[in-house]
Amino acid sequence: MSTETQHAIDTMLLEERRYPPPEGFAARANAKADIYDLGFEEFWEREGRERLSWFEPFTELYRWDPPYAQWYLGGKLNVCFNCVDRHVAAGHGGKVAYYWEGEPVGERRQITYADLQSEVVRFANALRKLGVRRGTPVAIYMGMVPELPVAMLACTRLGAPHTVVFGGFSADSLAGRMNDMGCEVLITQDEAWRRGSRVPLKQTADEAMAAAPAVRDCVVLRRTGGDVPMREGRDHWWHELVEGESDDPASCPCEPMSSEDLLFLMYTSGTTAKPKGIVHTTAGYLCGVAATHYYIFDLKPEEDVYWCAADIGWITGHSYIVYGPLCNLATSVLYEGTPDYPDKDRWWEIVERYGVTILYTAPTAIRSHMKWGPEYARRHDLSSLRLLGSVGEPINPEAWVWYREHIGSDRTPVVDTWWQTETGMILISPLPGVTTLKPGSATKPFPGVEAAVYDEHGNEVGPGGGGYLVLKRPWPAMLRGIFGDDERYRDTYWSRYENTYFAGDGARIDRDGDFWLLGRVDDVMNVSGHRISTIEVESALVDHPDVAEAAVCSRKDSTTGEAIVAYVTLKAGREPSVKKLQELRDHVARKIGPIAKPANVVFTPELPKTRSGKIMRRLLRDIAENRPLGDTTTLADPAVVAEIQSRAAEEKAQEAEA
Ligand code: WTA
Repeated sequence: MSTETQHAIDTMLLEERRYPPPEGFAARANAKADIYDLGFEEFWEREGRERLSWFEPFTELYRWDPPYAQWYLGGKLNVCFNCVDRHVAAGHGGKVAYYWEGEPVGERRQITYADLQSEVVRFANALRKLGVRRGTPVAIYMGMVPELPVAMLACTRLGAPHTVVFGGFSADSLAGRMNDMGCEVLITQDEAWRRGSRVPLKQTADEAMAAAPAVRDCVVLRRTGGDVPMREGRDHWWHELVEGESDDPASCPCEPMSSEDLLFLMYTSGTTAKPKGIVHTTAGYLCGVAATHYYIFDLKPEEDVYWCAADIGWITGHSYIVYGPLCNLATSVLYEGTPDYPDKDRWWEIVERYGVTILYTAPTAIRSHMKWGPEYARRHDLSSLRLLGSVGEPINPEAWVWYREHIGSDRTPVVDTWWQTETGMILISPLPGVTTLKPGSATKPFPGVEAAVYDEHGNEVGPGGGGYLVLKRPWPAMLRGIFGDDERYRDTYWSRYENTYFAGDGARIDRDGDFWLLGRVDDVMNVSGHRISTIEVESALVDHPDVAEAAVCSRKDSTTGEAIVAYVTLKAGREPSVKKLQELRDHVARKIGPIAKPANVVFTPELPKTRSGKIMRRLLRDIAENRPLGDTTTLADPAVVAEIQSRAAEEKAQEAEA
């Protein structure tokens, strides 16, 4: 055994807290232990039938023609029918689909499944008048308003594939995506609310359309009432367009689609400047997101109020705010704004108001709440919560435990769910009524998913080992390629190992067979021949009582190969000092080992993050190396970079003096 591996195991063993499922929870859980006994085909056959309603049943479960898979072949179905119409037909029209909470205080709407159906039908009829039909590519650029899921569902009703572009993206990004997909219609809104100010979506859309000539029609929802120019012939107000349109479902029947018809593209960044258009198709995607949502979140549609606090503009919102929950007849919360507007207890106020039972969010959000302190949560009654979820990045054990203790009253299971834009659905996660939880571990592959860890040479690594996360078999919601780029698809995911999906994440398996995700493999550092994950060091740093957040990267070093640089945000009221710096370095040495001691610690009031909340480690690495900065357009607050640069320079100057 190599010293790195031994070291990795030691680190994993440091986390000894265990949380078995609460008895009452386990007794009523949607997934019991025997779910793992089902065979791969048996499981997905069953889910295909139980989770979805078909116009024509599928005749073949899947076909695997590496690196392309097809699922539920021969079947005909419609996503909107599954998410809306069938529920209304079954008598659930009066059930709330979304409790919508606008960012301005007091703005609320309740949308039942019947309301959703009439809005979708009217809007689909309006889109039809604009020439949208089966196969017409549509772009959607909106904030978190109920009309966003309405627009997506209207597209799926007609069989028109969509691409939703996150409302924080620039005109260039929007144009690039629309051009890549060949979008003919764009749906947007006048402005969006964000932390009390107005985001000019239509204005940005205008700039984007100037560079995307194929867009012939633009539908504009009036949200804030702000003044926006409308171009005659091209731009249409949503409310004018739907006026007089029928809301009778028979006036606009759900288009019967083949299982493998394109449902949507979701663009995501890769290693080059051009984002990849990840292809998701109809039946496998819907089945995958519905099944995972049902078992992992233990959804009891008649009792639960479910809230995924992501943005619909990302894959998490597609799969776990729109398609999975609606397919499962869930009652969800949809919140328009930021967690700290008008105050830092906004989320907890929402949880209390609607009696939210299941909350799904990202570690970065949890750490923000940690930074603000637990007193905001304490102002509200959170006793309705029974399950918490996490997604998007490795969750450090301290954040995991804080989340459970301060939000979940030390009583709720926390499911750490691993997946990607490409996987469409959660692939590695605990099942809350079955799995003994370990803070920091996503635990086990979902039933019907074959994940493994491989070494450089493609050998499967056993319990106790570490390497690259791979998937050995296709799964229903897997990407069907990169839009228009077969070569990049093969190259990115299938070139490292034969017929095996390379996720780009590092992982370890412990002695119980539980998976510990280590972040992207490009974030792994090598210091004096020791492999150390940036995440590990970050986790150790935030374990220090004074640290709110930390981001770690490496820089080149002439003696050790790479040296660790840590950017640290202290909790409110804690002051940076040379003594504190030494304390933090020692703390890391204590938690992991002296080899993981950061060579530099830069104190900074904020870390640079993408708009989806991911820390931009590549950027930090550039700063650490004194390299010119690459693309920062996805950065939430570009001013943070300048601040960090000047602090890093100061720190260098001090070092030189010393
Ligand atoms: C990371 C978000 C550790 C991972 C759904 C993956 C995670 C990337 C987890 C995908 C988790 C997501 N634990 N890492 N529970 N969930 N990741 O495409 O590096 O925005 O490859 O999809 O996020 O990010 P994406």
